[in-house]
Amino acid sequence: MFPNVPLYPGFVMQRGGNMPAACRKGRVLYVMMTLNIFVCFLMGVLWNLGRDKSSRHVVRIPTKKFWHQPVLSESFWNREQQRLDFIFNPIINSALSSEPVVELPDWLNDTGPPDPCEPDYRVTTQILDYNSLPQRFQDFLLHMRCRTYPMLINQPRVCDGKPFLLLVVKSLTPHFDRRQAIRQSWGRVGVLANRTVATVFLLGNTMPVDHFPDLLGMLGHEAGLHKDILQWDYRDTFFNLTLKEVLFLEWFSQNCPHAQFILKGDDDVFVNTLRIIDFLEGLSETKARDLFLGDVISNAGPHRDRKLKYFIPESVFVGQYPPYAGGGGYLYSGELALRLHNISRQVVLYPIDDVYTGMCLKKLGLVPEKHTGFRTFDIEEKYRDNTCIYRSLMLVHSRTPQEVLKIWPWIVRPELECQ
Ligand SMILES: *[C@@H]1O[C@H](CO)[C@@H](O)[C@H](O)[C@H]1NC(C)=O
Ligand SMILES: *[C@@H]1O[C@H](CO)[C@@H](O)[C@H](O)[C@H]1NC(C)=O
Ligand SMILES: *[C@@H]1O[C@H](CO)[C@@H](O)[C@H](O)[C@H]1NC(C)=O
Ligand SMILES: *[C@@H]1O[C@H](CO)[C@@H](O)[C@H](O)[C@H]1NC(C)=O
Repeated sequence: MFPNVPLYPGFVMQRGGNMPAACRKGRVLYVMMTLNIFVCFLMGVLWNLGRDKSSRHVVRIPTKKFWHQPVLSESFWNREQQRLDFIFNPIINSALSSEPVVELPDWLNDTGPPDPCEPDYRVTTQILDYNSLPQRFQDFLLHMRCRTYPMLINQPRVCDGKPFLLLVVKSLTPHFDRRQAIRQSWGRVGVLANRTVATVFLLGNTMPVDHFPDLLGMLGHEAGLHKDILQWDYRDTFFNLTLKEVLFLEWFSQNCPHAQFILKGDDDVFVNTLRIIDFLEGLSETKARDLFLGDVISNAGPHRDRKLKYFIPESVFVGQYPPYAGGGGYLYSGELALRLHNISRQVVLYPIDDVYTGMCLKKLGLVPEKHTGFRTFDIEEKYRDNTCIYRSLMLVHSRTPQEVLKIWPWIVRPELECQ
């Protein structure tokens, strides 16, 4: 029951008529008290607001002495990163030149080979379980500090037309058919929707140690024919994909710094280049500058199951991953690529390339943005042959060369009716 709701009019009239004076006094008191409480509350809020503002300027006495010797991490990657953080610390090294020369404190004692591209055999003893780690980790750790490899094939003229969009495809030498399907479809160079598009394929070297046949002659022929192959002389393996990223950023800053946007993806994705150009044209200038878009994964961390492709042992890395865009494909601005290139030397190479890019973005204070048009985990099977669905998507993983060539006309042919 609601006690104050009058059940019938007579009841209210009776109450009003019986004790008018006392009731009025009570009501006045009641209103004043409510007002008082409200004013008190308001003042409290205002006071707290003021306090919050001023406390931002208050110097807090740190509970830990800031000169306290930091603790060296137990994990190798984290330890290497502590070293870089120290070297690039702007407070400690204010007049930092491009090649910082600093005295490392004892706790960061570093006795690695002076040439970062010499194998670093310290890791065999510094990482306690080194000998029981999978071979790919041993290979990665031995060469983790090396970031410079000679170029075998370069195309310094790819960006002469100052492309609006540079398509950058991670490929492997034997994937001739994938590259050709891309050239004949979403990666066709020239003018699309009144915008200049250029394409490059990123390759490492396929080495006899990995039992690859000698494909250099065929690759040389392909490079001469299409002039879109970039190749570096390092072993093209999954854990060296980060190297592919870093070497591309270096190449970009030297050869293509005026490209406005970059779409970087695997050679087994389908890209709706038209939709991407259309999206980019609608961006504001500020939005375009910090653009980093993809299938973003948040709250992830290293897998500890040795059987997984993405397994990372605790002796190598501890911690969470920053938000990162899945390596199948992501879209970012050329200007951001220059900043990523700049910051990447402050971030220790990590064996998973998309996580590494997320780490670099974090260091820049940026967060990649999720866009549902990026389907690195594919779309539902029942839609895969739907001729219209691809028009609204930006990137789908994975598609064979034949599928890529089948889907592309669905995008560009105007007679196909899609509502
Ligand atoms: C630095 O490392 C070397 C070799 O690991 C060792 O001999 C030396 O005592 C270390 N110095 C300090 C100050 O820890
Ligand atoms: C094509 O793009 C240029 C700038 O890149 C612009 O000046 C021109 O107006 C565009 N033409 C059409 C038909 O949109
Ligand atoms: C990466 O490439 C370098 C240079 O070829 C090679 O020494 C190293 O073993 C490779 N790393 C992996 C994990 O394959
Ligand atoms: C790269 O870093 C240097 C100094 O660290 C800075 O002067 C330069 O402006 C940076 N370049 C870009 C593109 O961020």
